[in-house]
Amino acid sequence: MRKPYLAGNWKMHKTAAEAAAFAAELRSALDRSPYTVMVAPPFTALQAVAEALSGSSILLGAQNMCSEESGAHTGEVSVLMLKDLGVSVVILGHSERRHTYGETDELISAKVQLALKHGLNVILCVGETLEEREAGHVNHVVESQLELGLSGVSAAQLQQVVIAYEPVWAIGTGKTATPEDADSVHEVIRAKLAALYSKSAADAMVIQYGGSVKPDNIAGLMAKPNIDGALVGGASLKPESFIPIAQFDRA
Ligand code: 13P
Repeated sequence: MRKPYLAGNWKMHKTAAEAAAFAAELRSALDRSPYTVMVAPPFTALQAVAEALSGSSILLGAQNMCSEESGAHTGEVSVLMLKDLGVSVVILGHSERRHTYGETDELISAKVQLALKHGLNVILCVGETLEEREAGHVNHVVESQLELGLSGVSAAQLQQVVIAYEPVWAIGTGKTATPEDADSVHEVIRAKLAALYSKSAADAMVIQYGGSVKPDNIAGLMAKPNIDGALVGGASLKPESFIPIAQFDRA
């Protein structure tokens, strides 16, 4: 049985003080949740949120990291720096990184391998654009992003990986994929994982859905057999929306 995994990607929101106050609110509601709960503040708020969540069950995530450990990489943040702050999870391959900042599958793969080598858990994001969906390329796009993103990842390391399916057209638009649509792509993802690794490895993997997840659609999404969690953007920024998502009622 896969444990539900609800994660908040705060993107470029909240100062350190705002983030720490919010994290303290989340902690009082969600500490020792039966589900896995993670928040990914911006880099500048990681330390403050780490302090606010210290000793709680809520995981601390980062939204990105450099593909290199150290060196002349102006403006980048190293896996070693993230670990130093108590980060245990890193989101890689987010569509905003792919499409706004030009990250390629090769770069994402290098980041995935480096994060795993250093013992971080990875949320690897995949998902098609509207254009790709309309052209009938959904399966091809997610399968190829998975295959390239996971290249060099061993079966043992796969246990440190969660996949997030985030259709680009559903992010921040209010257009959620229907639970049926999302579940059918999750099924494709699980089948690809089975082909790349094994059926038992694929069956054990958590696959999150992301894209306009809200308190009123989370239960319907989570009721689907292949949807194991959510990666939440906009609705993760306020206690009144993230807490009910993270405490959704299981059907
Ligand atoms: P929204 O929930 O705002 O659509 O964002 C989803 C997302 O990109 C999470 O990583």
